[in-house]
Amino acid sequence: MEQTLTIIKPDAVAAGNAARILALLEEKGFRIRAIRMMRLSEAQAREFYAVHRERPFYESLVRFMTSGPVIPAVLERENAVAALREAIGATDPAEAAEGTVRKRFAESKERNAIHASDSVENAWREARFFFSEADLLGTAP
Ligand code: CMP
Repeated sequence: MEQTLTIIKPDAVAAGNAARILALLEEKGFRIRAIRMMRLSEAQAREFYAVHRERPFYESLVRFMTSGPVIPAVLERENAVAALREAIGATDPAEAAEGTVRKRFAESKERNAIHASDSVENAWREARFFFSEADLLGTAP
């Protein structure tokens, strides 16, 4: 078993698709081990996406990610990191495969409904970004 971190982004929450996306992921074998709803501060969004700070879309991404509530969650499954990235599809919904979350729910490359960690190491770091040790206590696979 492995864990990964997802974020249902402001576009998907505002469109009323959050529960549909989580249900789809549960159907694909992911189990929710921690979950919350929150509004990211500008400082939090900047820190979470710090690796992208030199990219031309960084300021717009920070505005988007702070535009409304998000739902971060720790998901568990066998091979969770790779399986979640496959389940959500390509960053650009125009390139996302049939049946993926982004194909179905994303609006654009930026407003793409969902985030998934890209490695086990980043999943752990991102889980600690959103959840306290107490929240995660006893959830490790
Ligand atoms: P995510 O998987 O959360 O990681 C970085 C985010 O930046 C990405 O999803 C998109 O929301 C956004 N992003 C990535 N590439 C672009 C792009 N070319 N233009 C606008 N936004 C982007």
